[in-house]
Amino acid sequence: MVSIVKASQKYAESFARAVDIVARERKYLASVTGFSLESTKDFIQMGEANDFAQYFALDGEKVIGWCDLIPKDIEGFTHVGKLGIGLLSEYRHQGIGSMLLQKTIEHAREKNKIEKIELEVFGSNVQAIKFYEKFGFQHEGRRINSRKLDGKYDHVVLMGKWLLGGNNS
Ligand SMILES: CC(C)(COP(=O)(O)OP(=O)(O)OC[C@H]1O[C@@H](n2cnc3c(N)ncnc32)[C@H](O)[C@@H]1OP(=O)(O)O)[C@@H](O)C(=O)NCCC(=O)NCCS
Repeated sequence: MVSIVKASQKYAESFARAVDIVARERKYLASVTGFSLESTKDFIQMGEANDFAQYFALDGEKVIGWCDLIPKDIEGFTHVGKLGIGLLSEYRHQGIGSMLLQKTIEHAREKNKIEKIELEVFGSNVQAIKFYEKFGFQHEGRRINSRKLDGKYDHVVLMGKWLLGGNNS
């Protein structure tokens, strides 16, 4: 039975482990290893202190997925939130990513002043692109062969979604 909860330090270790596992798949995340426990704790602390949209999917007490939408911190860009999401492989394609994303967007819309969501996804990650399109994300551009990993090139696709009216043109 999977539940969606607000991120908290209680799950820092389990969260760090989940990110590391997905990163080591070398397909979906920009990084090919996870982050240290210390920087993971700092990340959660930053989210908690600002009430940013940061959620975990739990199976019991184990973090099996995460989703965060963190506003950019440079003046002139703070209306934009950057999205990160991932699930352990055995929990994909069961609607859990949709639940996580819905909850995170709701929070960002209601509690933070995020007007627009932006993300980057590898061109080869067709299922994630379909997932984002289903949620109304639009294609905004593409960096050609931006990644070269294990001898293979991959495009970086830029996608965006306006939450507060905004401008989709
Ligand atoms: C991308 C991800 C978060 C989506 O979460 P999910 O729980 O697998 O997705 P859901 O089950 O909620 O599916 C929602 C929609 O996504 C799309 N989708 C999901 N799995 C798919 C697949 N295997 N093939 C094609 N489309 C797929 C479909 O449009 C689906 O809608 P439908 O069920 O009505 O067909 C998840 O697959 C994941 O963690 N992938 C690896 C990490 C990753 O890519 N992170 C994003 C990096 S930018």
